[in-house]
Amino acid sequence: MAEQINNLTFAIIKPDAVRAGHTGKIIDRIIGGGFRIRALKMIQQSRAQAEGFYDVHRSKPFFAGLTEFMSSAPCVVMVLEKDGAVRAWRDLMGATDPAKADEGTIRKEFGASVGENATHGSDSDENAAIEIGYFFNRLEIV
Ligand code: CMP
Repeated sequence: MAEQINNLTFAIIKPDAVRAGHTGKIIDRIIGGGFRIRALKMIQQSRAQAEGFYDVHRSKPFFAGLTEFMSSAPCVVMVLEKDGAVRAWRDLMGATDPAKADEGTIRKEFGASVGENATHGSDSDENAAIEIGYFFNRLEIV
């Protein structure tokens, strides 16, 4: 992307949260947290698309279950803007394992397990740029 991306991050509302009807509540939390939603769409990933997205985890024991789950039902993918967006979105989500997430975080409230943990967020500006580019073209980011 030509745009400076240090104020952008990539987010997913995962299939567990969409299926449970939590999409609107999570979007409310995002807006209440001071993020600007620059792009948003509901998709259902193919298995191959989920495998490509999580390629860094290919050798992990949870890879098959993770990609099966992520391609099992619709999810919502988003580009979020805020100063320090990567850190800010990770803070709002809470720890990967909902059982270890702080009170008041999205994963504490909506996550069921480390695998079905309601949301995803990029872990660095560099990966945010890669992940945004995986799901959105430049014209979709407004
Ligand atoms: P996410 O932020 O989407 O990035 C990688 C995902 O792998 C992570 O959230 C978890 O949902 C999942 N994950 C990480 N560790 C495990 C694990 N031990 N078992 C199952 N899934 C995991």
